[in-house]
Amino acid sequence: MPRIIHVEHDRKAITLHWDDGRHSRFLHIWLRDNSPQARHPETGHRVEETSLLDAGIRPTHCALTGEGELSVRWSDEHQSVFPPGWLRRHDYSNGVRCQPRATTTWGSEFASQLPRIHYASFRENDGDRLRWLQAFRRSGLAIMQGIPEKNGIVLEIAGSIGQVRETSWGRVFDVRAVPKANSVAYTNLPLVLHTDEAYRDPVPTVQLTHFVKSSASGGETTLVDGFKLAEILRERNPDQFHLLANTILHFHFRDAGLELENYAPVFTLDAEGRVTQVRYSNHSVQPFLLAPEAMEAFYDAYLALGRLRDHPRYRLELSMQAGDMYMVDNHRVMHGRKACRSEGVRHLQSCYIERDEAMGRLVALERGGDGESA
Ligand SMILES: [Fe+2]
Repeated sequence: MPRIIHVEHDRKAITLHWDDGRHSRFLHIWLRDNSPQARHPETGHRVEETSLLDAGIRPTHCALTGEGELSVRWSDEHQSVFPPGWLRRHDYSNGVRCQPRATTTWGSEFASQLPRIHYASFRENDGDRLRWLQAFRRSGLAIMQGIPEKNGIVLEIAGSIGQVRETSWGRVFDVRAVPKANSVAYTNLPLVLHTDEAYRDPVPTVQLTHFVKSSASGGETTLVDGFKLAEILRERNPDQFHLLANTILHFHFRDAGLELENYAPVFTLDAEGRVTQVRYSNHSVQPFLLAPEAMEAFYDAYLALGRLRDHPRYRLELSMQAGDMYMVDNHRVMHGRKACRSEGVRHLQSCYIERDEAMGRLVALERGGDGESA
């Protein structure tokens, strides 16, 4: 660990000189605002109000302690001690920035590398479970096999990963394909690739689907990485990508006691242009309402994405057996199914969990060791 060898300050900032040759410059107000002595000792949360700080705050004395820490007495009488490791990890003058966790995009080649786990390992082997969840965090998709044929077991699995989100469909909902179906949901017809529930705000983040029974032939599950499609479209046709990121669409659902709507683009971007959410739900999107001169170009972009979605290079086709489950990041991965070729019983149970808590529990698991570091 590099050591601080010299400290100096001017009117605006403290400059640290390190024994590896680096110089770090921290604004006075930034250091005072982030004083470790102004944090709650257990939660680490800030206990002082930033907006009440004096913008002209300055050190009255700063020095290195015997342990090589930076000690500062401030003009408001506050005393801070900064460990050198903390200062390196927050060295914004040398390029440290908030960095979302890296993801890996995938196409059809991912079929041979899918994160898979057996139900028994998931329950009994902490290391396997941790690595499976880490792979899900990177790719937005994971498969479980060997799940007992038991109604509602998907809820037990979901509840052990995160917080189940109950919707108007219930905590768990059934999808069946049976002979002489009386509803489209119960037919053997194909389902085009889509993200779920685009008409909700917020849209559920993780969907788990357990194949309780699956005796019909055909009906392969189709999955595609929306982040990958966004990447390809941005590369091939940036104008089309930006149209899909900057055009607000209306997603809508209605039944007797409920009307849900959401106004959002196909791609949501963060402040640095990274795609953070994909909504592609052709069945629930309402008529596009754009300026007449913009309509044709928008259709070109929407169709381009739809064609990429269906291209074999990007799409996975998985024959899911009874006892299998897939878990998808619904803000990223689209799911669908091909038509069934023969009649048979097909019973799926799905539920949603929220990604923030699921991934938060994963980080807590990672603190316990095993698997890659957090
Ligand atoms: Fe769906």
